[in-house]
Amino acid sequence: MSNSFIRIIQNPILLRHLDRVAFKTSIDFITVESPLVLPEGVNPTMIIFEIEMENAIELISKWKAKWPKCFLAAAVTNPDKELWMAANAAGCDLVSNRGSLPILLRKKIEAYLAGVEKLIPETMRLMAKPVVNPGDGLIARLPDNPEDPICVFRIGNEYFGIRDVCPHAGFSLADGDFDASTGIVTCPEHGSRFNVHSGERVRGPADYSIKTYPVTIEGNDIYVHV
Ligand code: FES
Repeated sequence: MSNSFIRIIQNPILLRHLDRVAFKTSIDFITVESPLVLPEGVNPTMIIFEIEMENAIELISKWKAKWPKCFLAAAVTNPDKELWMAANAAGCDLVSNRGSLPILLRKKIEAYLAGVEKLIPETMRLMAKPVVNPGDGLIARLPDNPEDPICVFRIGNEYFGIRDVCPHAGFSLADGDFDASTGIVTCPEHGSRFNVHSGERVRGPADYSIKTYPVTIEGNDIYVHV
């Protein structure tokens, strides 16, 4: 399958630096003006974009759900710690200031094309701690892992892992109310709502969506892929 490196970049300096990356690595970027006009039928290898782009955090969640193997790289122009953390939490693979992004990408692309490194590291399969619950709702927690705490919800025969940290003020979503008919969990502290299918923020005060994780069941064991 051929590689598709997509860039959605407005800043002319960054565009020039990415042109040099393309030249040095012998790749061609597909340049699009807006995330709304991504080419049809393309399974992207990499998407490079500016974090200040409208709805960037929502798009990270959507792209990751649609193309889990696509490497997402975000350029930050104005340092904003919250936005930076939200991008990471939503599943962005690389968040970097605009000046250093091109060199990081060049190294990444060279290693990938040489077969030395995968763009997306292999996931780890971690066993979650079950919560006694015979029905729908919270069925497991994964408090200790290389990422943030994760919790797992069940709806019928489907299982959904989400980051168990509310992006508003960090409270545990596992402790919130869960509506199995909609898949929406409500943060117990200030009422932000998230859809566990996609991680989408349905209601504030949280500004951002949450990261989701694949879950598999083997016998009585619940595994989260991190
Ligand atoms: S901590 Fe979740 S809404 Fe405030």
